[in-house]
Amino acid sequence: MKLFEVYPLFDIEIQRGRGCYVYDSHDKEYLDLYGGHAVISIGHSHPFYIEKLTGQLHKIGFYSNSVVNPLQEELAEKLGKLSGYENYSLFLVNSGAEANENALKLASFHNGRNKVLSFSKAFHGRTSASVKVTDNAKYSAPINDGLEVVFVSLNDLESVKKELQTRQYSSVIIEGIQGIGGIQIPDDNFLRELRNLASETETVLILDEIQSGYGRSGKFFAHQYAGIHPDIITVAKGFGNGFPMGGVLISPMFQAVYGQLGTTFGGNHLACTAGIAVLDIFEAENLVENAEKVGEYLLSELKKIPQIKEVRGRGLMIGIEFDKSIKELRTRLLFEEKVFTGATGTNIFRLLPPLCLTRQQADIFLERFEKVLK
Ligand SMILES: Cc1ncc(COP(=O)(O)O)c(C=O)c1O
Repeated sequence: MKLFEVYPLFDIEIQRGRGCYVYDSHDKEYLDLYGGHAVISIGHSHPFYIEKLTGQLHKIGFYSNSVVNPLQEELAEKLGKLSGYENYSLFLVNSGAEANENALKLASFHNGRNKVLSFSKAFHGRTSASVKVTDNAKYSAPINDGLEVVFVSLNDLESVKKELQTRQYSSVIIEGIQGIGGIQIPDDNFLRELRNLASETETVLILDEIQSGYGRSGKFFAHQYAGIHPDIITVAKGFGNGFPMGGVLISPMFQAVYGQLGTTFGGNHLACTAGIAVLDIFEAENLVENAEKVGEYLLSELKKIPQIKEVRGRGLMIGIEFDKSIKELRTRLLFEEKVFTGATGTNIFRLLPPLCLTRQQADIFLERFEKVLK
């Protein structure tokens, strides 16, 4: 069997990693400013993470959600404490898209509506449809029977108001910072007004923090810059530092109903162990504060580079926009300077490094970046 080729690949085989570095099959070292697509939060192959996961594997890797799993409770308690959402509940899944599916369903079960408001350039995942072909009405929310989505521009408060005041919307879903959209930050005031409008119209406010969350922005969640509390928050990526897991953080206004949501793998012993180890390392190494500090430094240094059209971001989620294609620059950065970066569109670099990036590593990146710009 051969692989189904949906990914255009760089001809590099990454065989191991440590902290903010990865190493290829020739043992060449690369500085990782991409974090394997915003996934690596605590750094590659952290010794504590390895120890915890190995230890858990020696006990048990998986059992089903039909029995008590104290690791799930430990994870929920730690996440509540570190994120500032102690009174929310946690539903565990396996990916970002699955977290958003469950968030959208939960909102629709809650208010019985089937319309969703979203924003231009949004990215929330690639799944759909499985529940439609499942023959059990209990698992279907009104949005599964006839999902209607309207897109408005980010920060366009008037359009949001016009739509939400129809009181037809089940939920409004927004990224804490748009990632694939090119590191677009919703205004703090826009988020506050969105919060108010959602409450007034009984629309569920869902914050997708899959890319912008988990400390990347310099706060645990990017929306915390606006001081709001969404009704539902979704997480994935940095949650497990590469162990595939997602989560839905649910405000106390929702009542859990047995059987309404579910998954086979979500919240398994190994996943919870990964999630707990990540949070323990966050705490021990002050990674959220580090993301804020090193991110601020990177942003201010990048703003001094004259060839760049615009630099946007918060913490270690940074977009560098050029007024020309970056394809050649990115390729040279990778193959000549040995630096991984992300990209979006044709002309925007995305920096999404592990949150343990040091100022010295930021300087190494800046030096190599300026070298390819010359
Ligand atoms: C903001 C956002 N939401 C959802 C997703 C989907 O996550 P996954 O690929 O884990 O399904 C992504 C993935 O890039 C994302 O950036």
